[in-house]
Amino acid sequence: MTVHFIGAGPGAPDLLTLRGRDLIAASPVCLYAGSLIPQAVLAHCPPDARIINTAPMDLDEIIAEIAAADAAGQDVARLHSGDLSVWSAMGEQLRRLRALNIPLTVTPGVPAFAAAAAALEAELTLPELTQSLVLTRTPGRASTMPPAESLTNFAATGATLAIHLSIHNLACVVADLMPRYGGDCPVAVVWRASWPDQRVVRATLATIEEAVAGSMERTALIVVGRVLAPQDFAESSLYAAGYDRRFRPQNSGSRFADASE
Ligand SMILES: C[S@@+](CC[C@H](N)C(=O)[O-])C[C@H]1O[C@@H](n2cnc3c(N)ncnc32)[C@H](O)[C@@H]1O
Repeated sequence: MTVHFIGAGPGAPDLLTLRGRDLIAASPVCLYAGSLIPQAVLAHCPPDARIINTAPMDLDEIIAEIAAADAAGQDVARLHSGDLSVWSAMGEQLRRLRALNIPLTVTPGVPAFAAAAAALEAELTLPELTQSLVLTRTPGRASTMPPAESLTNFAATGATLAIHLSIHNLACVVADLMPRYGGDCPVAVVWRASWPDQRVVRATLATIEEAVAGSMERTALIVVGRVLAPQDFAESSLYAAGYDRRFRPQNSGSRFADASE
């Protein structure tokens, strides 16, 4: 018996990895985080699977379900939205399962920030504009933030920001970012990226609160940065015609001319 932790992606049932889909299809038990995972993803479960929404359960109850499946010799597909490496609560489950010697695997998923960038048809790192993307959040009822990880501190870098779990905090986000990014800095809010009812609101730091006007809650990502409306950015050296590189040696004198791979 094995517990398969699977990144279930941003919502669209075809934005799962093939491995994730196949593991779900092969597991007689499925535990899923129902607050973010739509029913459509559960269509990958076998028809007679025991499917449990863990949204109303506490950690003890979740581990008890897994332990019961372990005792019955049944594999478990444990689904969390997006990827498991950020805000999945996987860490605390892994710790409990390791203490119980229950075997597990981890399969990555498409994270919300990538689905939001796709909805925006945007590259979030552009040459000479920014080369960093900060995945962050603001404090919530269940989670405080380490003091150094404030939005104002991240803003000091000027990097693109993907701000999770914060749409209810939009006014504070704007207030914290305005001094460094300026009122004309482009902002996009993507609600339910990849879901059938996905919505995108584009504005600036000065106008985003009015543009959203409280119309979005919970499953929304706030993306902030000049990359969203680039007037002008450099092209990467990688594809520049004269750039000498391993896969495109420029002449017989190139240090890559004899490279075999
Ligand atoms: C608990 S976190 C889960 C993050 C997830 N593990 C990931 O890899 O993206 C939930 C937050 O992720 C963002 N989110 C998750 N799915 C989303 C989607 N489909 N569209 C927009 N934002 C999403 C929202 O900011 C939401 O508040």
